[in-house]
Amino acid sequence: MKRNILIHPDPRLKKICSPVVDLTDELRQLADDMLETMYDAPGIGLAAPQIGMLDRLIVMDCVKEEGEAPRPLIMFNPEVVASSDETNVYEEGCLSIPEQFAEVTRPKIVDVAWIDRDGNAQRETFDGLWATCVQHEIDHLNGKLFIDYLKPMKRQMITRKMQKLKREQARE
Ligand code: NI
Repeated sequence: MKRNILIHPDPRLKKICSPVVDLTDELRQLADDMLETMYDAPGIGLAAPQIGMLDRLIVMDCVKEEGEAPRPLIMFNPEVVASSDETNVYEEGCLSIPEQFAEVTRPKIVDVAWIDRDGNAQRETFDGLWATCVQHEIDHLNGKLFIDYLKPMKRQMITRKMQKLKREQARE
C-alpha cells in the first residue's frame, strides 16, 4: 500500500527515530509499503519518518540504468560504521522537499551495518551515489535533512518555498 509522504517543514521530520527491537510482520509490511511508495514517487531512497513512522528503517534502490535489475534494499537500524576521508559532492534532493536540489559534500565511501528484512545482520561498503543515498537516509532517522548542510539563507529560502507549496496543497 502506498503511503503519504510528509513535506518539510513537519515536526516528525525533525525527530530522532527509535531502534527496531522486535522485527514484526507489521514492520516488514511497512518496509514493503515504503519501497512501493519510493518507486512510485519516483525516488531512490525513503526513510520511515518521511511517512510519519518514527522507526529506524530506510529503503533504497539506486540502480538507474535502464534494463538493469532493480536492487531494493530494506535496512532496519542502519548505521555507518566507517567512512572514508575522501569526500564526494552530489546534487541532492529529497521526496520531502520536492523539486529542490543542492550540492552536499559527504564521505565518498561508507561501511554500513543493518538488519535485513529476514532479521539477519548485514554489512556492506557503499560508494558513489549509493553512499550518498544511504547517508542521506540515515540522516532522516536523526531528524536531519540535506538542507541542514546548506547555508542558513539558502535553507530558509527552500523552507519558505515548501511552506508555500503546503499552503497551496491545503487549499486544493
Ligand atoms: Ni530525503
